[in-house]
Amino acid sequence: YRNLRIALLGAGSVGAQVADQLLTHADELAARVGARLELVGVAVRDVDAQRTTDIPRELLTADAESLILGSDIVVELMGGLEPARTLILQALTSGADVITANKALLATHGPELFETAEQVGAQLYYEAAVGGAIPIIRPLRDSLAGDRVTRILGIVNGTTNFILDRMDKHGETMEQALATATELGYAEADPTADIGGYDAAQKAGILASLAFHTLVPAEAVYREGITEVSLDDVRAARKAGYVVKLLAICEKIVDPLTLEAGVSARVYPALIPDEHPLAAVHGANNAVFVEAEAAGPLMFYGAGAGGIQTASAVLGDVVSAARRHVVGGPGVAESTHANLPVLPISAVTTRY
Ligand code: NDP
Ligand code: HSE
Repeated sequence: YRNLRIALLGAGSVGAQVADQLLTHADELAARVGARLELVGVAVRDVDAQRTTDIPRELLTADAESLILGSDIVVELMGGLEPARTLILQALTSGADVITANKALLATHGPELFETAEQVGAQLYYEAAVGGAIPIIRPLRDSLAGDRVTRILGIVNGTTNFILDRMDKHGETMEQALATATELGYAEADPTADIGGYDAAQKAGILASLAFHTLVPAEAVYREGITEVSLDDVRAARKAGYVVKLLAICEKIVDPLTLEAGVSARVYPALIPDEHPLAAVHGANNAVFVEAEAAGPLMFYGAGAGGIQTASAVLGDVVSAARRHVVGGPGVAESTHANLPVLPISAVTTRY
């Protein structure tokens, strides 16, 4: 196999798991891609900090700028706007494909990043930016590209869903539940992004932009977080047969005054009847309902946050980018099929 050089920026909740998966499953990934995915380095703030996964010490560096030079694929999992923006621009202009899970960055500087990628013929992948492990970006961008999406509704922030669930089930305060969500790696570095609804609004903007083929900036999304939701509210809702959920709603609308077509995107805590499928979304899970004219209603459900779960979506993007390098174009490498190990028939036909 030839080598593809992967630079990883960040080894926190998600980055550490991505590094671990790349190292642990190196042979399997090489067979799938037709090239070895060589992790050439991992940029962090503090190379001496204690880490929960075993990243070889020699891979760690505080010099992210040097690390991306000569890389084929750069994976940005640092979070925040800077230096993430500058590093991604440098990576793209140096010819690398970039993978990011950074919805705050995409919501703020998305157009600049995508324009740069287009100009230099590089690709920017971001499946992990919305819905954690749930495949939702590709379905909206690719699978539904020929249909007309009319509405998206769902739970797109794992931390707030986890908090509201703990308040409902265990009578915990928001502060107690947030502390656990942070410990479990669900919350943003500044959790105001979660509880203030900013993270959900950024995701709603990304989903609405893809679904309605327009640019919906996060500032255009109506936003209320869960900071005003008290334990008493959650208890009162439960007594009345409802649960409180932070909802994101994006839909095509017609302005009643001007009769002009437009898009409405909003995020706010809502009362969901007990028997509604969204009421059964517990913990840090997310659920996204998509309604399209031809496809009808579709439902996407799964882990919306968490290091290893989100690493799954990031790794999927890494494989897509790597396959592009191998065959020189998007899509699945033809060589991939030739590389598949042949399983004995009994393994395929065994009944469980
Ligand atoms: P963490 O805060 O856990 O990790 C951030 C990592 O980036 C750390 O390793 C940190 O280094 C490194 N880092 C931060 N700033 C710099 C810098 N200036 N230079 C070098 N390294 C830096 O973040 P997460 O892993 O939770 O999230 C990463 C991204 O993924 C974010 O954009 C987040 O929104 C997104 N995301 C997160 C999910 C989750 O469940 N956590 C799910 C989906 C998306 P050090 O370790 O030395 O501090
Ligand atoms: N903090 C985010 C959440 C991470 O809780 O949903 C996943 O994007």
